[in-house]
Amino acid sequence: MTIKNSKALLICCIITGLFFGPAILFADQNQGRKEISLYGGKSGTILFPHHTHQKSVTDCQVCHLSFAQKEGALEAAKKSEALKKKYVMNKICLKCHRALKKAGEKSGPTSCKKCHTK
Ligand code: HEC
Ligand code: HEC
Ligand code: HEC
Repeated sequence: MTIKNSKALLICCIITGLFFGPAILFADQNQGRKEISLYGGKSGTILFPHHTHQKSVTDCQVCHLSFAQKEGALEAAKKSEALKKKYVMNKICLKCHRALKKAGEKSGPTSCKKCHTK
């Protein structure tokens, strides 16, 4: 193969990867519910936009390292004491929202009533 041909092949591969890479990555993955209602004790339920976060956070493990990709896994982990109450809220949700806000970037709520809406 000539140098010119292999360059063309390489460019072709990159373009194909750019277009189809993300589709392949997501295709065989169960993304779960779009919106999830989370238990928030006396402070009230949290309406959590799951798919919006999958776009902005991209790495599933930021959250799912602490609890499984399974409906009810978060509360189950709290009940079995694998996770402390409010750990996810403070160390995952709020930690990220505060850091983004501080950096002047698009962020999520940091006050109780904006998350615990119901
Ligand atoms: C910002 C946190 C966060 C991120 C990031 C995140 N998830 Fe989730 N995910 C949750 C929460 C919260 C639940 C609900 C768990 C429960 O019901 O106890 C959940 C539940 C799930 C479930 C179980 C089904 C359901 O709807 O409850 C699946 C499957 C799932 N997630 C897949 C993913 C995948 C795949 C990614 C990455 C592309 C991802 N999640 C990224 C927070 C997150
Ligand atoms: C970014 C969204 C968010 C904000 C802001 C927030 N919370 Fe939460 N809160 C959650 C989530 C998610 C849970 C469930 C997971 C957990 O327990 O870590 C929760 C759980 C709780 C629980 C229930 C613990 C249990 O299992 O009984 C209480 C009480 C609570 N929050 C109080 C507060 C108070 C008070 C504030 C304001 C100082 C606040 N939250 C701000 C998201 C938030
Ligand atoms: C790594 C960063 C990160 C983590 C972790 C994270 N969020 Fe967010 N959150 C964001 C960003 C960025 C936005 C703004 C998204 C947008 O508007 O496009 C947001 C927005 C939100 C909103 C507002 C949505 C709206 O429609 O205005 C809620 C509610 C929320 N997050 C709850 C949570 C809860 C509950 C958790 C923990 C289970 C969590 N977030 C974890 C980055 C994060």
